[in-house]
Amino acid sequence: MKKLYIKTYGCQMNVYDSARMADLLAPLGYAPVENAELADMVILNTCHIREKATEKVYSELGQLKRLKQRRADEGHPMLVAVAGCVAQAEGAEIVARQPAVDIVVGPQSYHRLPEMIAKIARGARIALETDFPAEDKFDHLPEEQANNGPTAFLTVQEGCDKFCTFCVVPYTRGAEFSRPVHQIVHEAERLAANGVREVTLLGQNVNAYHGEGPDGKGWSLSKVIGRLARIEGLERLRYTTSHPRDMDEDLIAAHGEVEKLMPFLHLPVQSGSDRMLRAMNRGHNRDDYLKTLERIRAARSDIALSSDFIVGFPGESDEDFQATLDLVQEANFAQAFSFKYSARPGTPAASVARQIPDELKSERLQILQASLVEQSHAFNRACKGRVFGVLFEKPGRKPGQAVGRSPYLQPVHVEGAAALIGRLASVEIAAVLPNSLKGVLVADRVTAH
Ligand code: SAH
Ligand code: SF4
Ligand code: F3S
Repeated sequence: MKKLYIKTYGCQMNVYDSARMADLLAPLGYAPVENAELADMVILNTCHIREKATEKVYSELGQLKRLKQRRADEGHPMLVAVAGCVAQAEGAEIVARQPAVDIVVGPQSYHRLPEMIAKIARGARIALETDFPAEDKFDHLPEEQANNGPTAFLTVQEGCDKFCTFCVVPYTRGAEFSRPVHQIVHEAERLAANGVREVTLLGQNVNAYHGEGPDGKGWSLSKVIGRLARIEGLERLRYTTSHPRDMDEDLIAAHGEVEKLMPFLHLPVQSGSDRMLRAMNRGHNRDDYLKTLERIRAARSDIALSSDFIVGFPGESDEDFQATLDLVQEANFAQAFSFKYSARPGTPAASVARQIPDELKSERLQILQASLVEQSHAFNRACKGRVFGVLFEKPGRKPGQAVGRSPYLQPVHVEGAAALIGRLASVEIAAVLPNSLKGVLVADRVTAH
């Protein structure tokens, strides 16, 4: 057996792609390992979303270069591949900057990895594939191997046509594409048969999904969710990441109607200022966003909301930033991610003259994060005494303890639950810790979430 080490950066779609790359290389004799030290092949599955994410890749490649040399001196050749969004965006630059790299493959062409490995074996210096090939990658991937654990990701949609002015995704992942419904249903059925209880449907713009249904018509995401909810054994469904513009009435209604759909929604807003939202080309304003949240809460009163924010977008004034803080107060998030704007080469916002100084970005980020952390602590505190379904995923640190996730994705530790790993059980939340919840079993099993 050859050893394959894949390091994954970035979003859940990269996590999914890494698993599929491992599936693809298994017939070639590669088995996954946990670190690069003794690997025969290393794949960095990279993220280009912010400058820091990209820098990490180059520094990791520097270390791999030394490891590759050492392994070669010991008589063990090692293949180094760069996959993902940095590969797509900076393929030629990677080849020029880091001679230790053998393979560069973009997110839409990794089904070609076996041929690329063969090319290197035949003596080629480099194998590079960063086209958006005409053939469908998903038609060329093998069935996924048995999943470890009761949760899985399932990519249903890729790419983005929205072109927010700060974002690289439309360039690295290409145009919006939805997988046909039958492929998704088969994949979800196989996952369920392998013990998966919770599936998260993935897409850069997952709620823009419009794949072909078995009736030959375009199906919406809500229709796909309704279909997947009928699969026996699948007990929880989630989807991410959604765009506020594509939260249609049917999808909102599904939150009230489909019991398996978890009451948690990540809906990035980026800013609370209409002026900034316009400059970002988000296609929605503050009021649209807040009204959408209202409709979602009307459909499902116990839903918890999450979001993404960017501070220090070019031209952001104190008033614009204040509008973001005000929106946070109005919306009340259970959880959120916030970032300093990072200029990405090739995106429209990067060439705007009025960039914000880094100190001001840091200051605003701190203020925003303080307010978001306060909200998420309040949300967690309010969970005390509630009874949730918890899907147990793995053993905890103490003997007999197991860790699972609540419907709101909070980690929950429960004593004496080790036998329940892989299953869903009712848990009463007994204590709220800084990064997790502590619970006690109420009953052995529940059917709902
Ligand atoms: N497809 C998703 C998010 C993709 S990227 C959506 O449309 O919402 C995840 C998050 O990274 C974004 O929501 C945004 O908050 C952040 N992000 C993207 N580009 C960025 C940039 N250039 N600088 C800082 N943050 C960025
Ligand atoms: Fe990027 Fe905007 Fe597309 Fe999200 S919707 S992936 S932020 S361009
Ligand atoms: Fe990063 Fe690409 Fe995902 S840029 S966030 S890995 S789509």
